[in-house]
This record gives sequence, structure tokens and C-alpha cells, in this order.
Amino acid sequence: MDERVTLRSHLDRSALQTPLHGAALADVIKAIASASIELAGLIADGPFAGITGRHGGINSDGDQQRDIDVAADEMIRRALRGTPVAAVLSEEAALPETLRPSAPFCVAIDPLDGSANLDNNISVGTIFSIRPRGNDLLSTFFEPGTAQCAAGFIVYGPQTTLVLALNARVDVFMLDRHAQEFVQTRQAVQIARNMPEFAINASNHRHWHGPVRTYIDECLSGISGGGDADFNMRWIGSLVAEALRILVRGGVFLYPADARPSYREGRLRLLYEAHPMALIMEWAGGAASTGRRRILELAAKTPHQRVPLIMGSVHHVRDVTAIHDRIEPMFDNSDAPLFARRGLFL
Ligand code: F6P
Ligand code: MN
Repeated sequence: MDERVTLRSHLDRSALQTPLHGAALADVIKAIASASIELAGLIADGPFAGITGRHGGINSDGDQQRDIDVAADEMIRRALRGTPVAAVLSEEAALPETLRPSAPFCVAIDPLDGSANLDNNISVGTIFSIRPRGNDLLSTFFEPGTAQCAAGFIVYGPQTTLVLALNARVDVFMLDRHAQEFVQTRQAVQIARNMPEFAINASNHRHWHGPVRTYIDECLSGISGGGDADFNMRWIGSLVAEALRILVRGGVFLYPADARPSYREGRLRLLYEAHPMALIMEWAGGAASTGRRRILELAAKTPHQRVPLIMGSVHHVRDVTAIHDRIEPMFDNSDAPLFARRGLFL
């Protein structure tokens, strides 16, 4: 690393480029980053810090909550209370909490995504989305994802990594544990265009709708099967780790809707998972879609709404949407070969 650019100095510089509430926005991001440093310590100490991994209860959406989820939620809320945030919507609560109603920003956050992975010492993360407060405070969350002014995520893994989408670019920072501050390691990230690598939970193959099954079958068929590349596969089961991999080396991630009633809208949440990831992907030169619609154009109707998410390089996301375009949505659920197999290589 040549010049040491800290997150703090990066934010101070960005604040000057964003005259309207630029400094306030920087303060919100600094608060989330500070909370994440504290949380990284707690995750690393785990049982030595009293984290048992036991379930504390059920969150607003019926997911099992662990003690670390509750601790992460409290840390983030505490950090945001001192900042210019009007309201915060967390995965861990049914409704947004009003903080300072006249403040300029609203935050949607997943304080600790994928906490079950901690049992196996696999990376987990915090995902955040920031948008300017609208005239009506709570309806701010129900504006399309294009309303976001910043987004990011933190990966608690072998290293603690913070990815930040701000001012139409994406930068990556790594926690210097000794200095307890984030330092820039990649700037103005651009997603690789043609990396043949996909990530999907393949155990759901039998539930997928025709277009997704067709796309993945074509990836698997490889060059010898008539495809245009031999694809590699990765599946970590941790959204932040998959997203970081795409930013670092490209590829495509899919968490589609499928035929099971509880997966009709996919698995991931629009406001604090898909929207922020979509902003990050697009500002890094990639794309994010449901297969039929651009994620950033969607507006949530409920705080914890789910959505299918396909994200990564433009080239791959376009291939997936091209297959969807050839198949009427009414046949998504059909197993008939005519509807299920009209792929790219017709
Ligand atoms: O939402 C939690 C999460 O762990 C995500 O990080 C990840 O993408 C997904 O669930 C994995 O789900 P599955 O259970 O299908 O592997
Ligand atoms: Mn989550």
C-alpha cells in the first residue's frame, strides 16, 4: 500500500464533494464503521466475551435470533443515536425506530447477516443502506432503491473488510486491528466483466422456475456442452462474502424466487439486503435484477419484504434476464421443456 488512506480521511474528502449534508452523511457512515469495529471484536472473542450462540428469541420476521444478533442490533442503534439519522429500520425489529425526526437521513440495516455461520467460523456481515429523509419520515423507506445516497457492508472474516458505495464509486477498506481504524485497500472497484463463476444454493434446483434452471444448466454444460464458458461454482451461504468475492474477482450470484410458498419472493430482503447490494454492484460497474426487473427501481411495500436477487457482472446478469425475457412470467413455474429450456443457445 502506498499512501495510507483511512476511511475517516476518505469520508472527510467525500464530504467536501457533497455540499448538501455531506458532512452529516460522513458522520453516519463513521458511526456505522465504529460500531462494526466493536462488533468485530465481539465476534472474534465469541465465547470468551460471553457469546453463547444460543437463540434469544424470534425476530420480527420469524427468523431465529441469537444473542450476537441482539448485541449487534444494540451496538448499531447506540452508534446511530448520536448521528443525524431520522429513523432506522433493522432486520431485528418489526418497525422502523424514530431517532431524530428532522435529521436528514434514514438508515436500513441488517446488523448481522448470516449469524448461523458463526458456528462454523465462516464470515458474516453487517449490511447498510442510507437514503435522504423524505417529507414523510416513514414513507422514505418505501421509495425505490434509486433514492439511496450510500450503501455498504462489512465482512467479519479472516480480516474485517468494509465496502463503501458513496458518490457513485465503490471503495474497499480493511480494518487495521492495531490502529483500530479502516484503511483503503481497493479504490473505485470495477467488477470483472467475464469471470465464469456462479453462486447459487444448488440444493434448491428442483424448486427453481424454468429460467433459472435453464441458466444454471447452461453454465454447467460448459464449452463441451455448447456453452460459451466452463463455469466454476462457489457457494458460501453468506451474502456479504459472496458480494465481496464478486467485487474482487467477478461472477454472478443468484438467490431466485422458487416454487415453495415461502420462497415466492425469494429469500433476501429488499430494504437492507438487495437494495444496498444493488447500489454497490451498479456503482462498481455491475448489475442487479430480479430476473425481470432492475432491483434499484423496486420500492418496498412492507419493511421486511423479500425479493429475488441476481447480481454481479453486467454480462452475466444480462444473460439471466435474457432467458427470463423469452419466457412469459406465467410460465415461470412450468416444468414443460418448451417453457423451461428456451435458453441462450437456442
Ligand atoms: O440471510 C441470511 C443468509 O445467510 C444470507 O447471508 C445467505 O445468502 C443466505 O442466507 C443463504 O441461504 P441458504 O440457507 O439458502 O444457504
Ligand atoms: Mn440478513
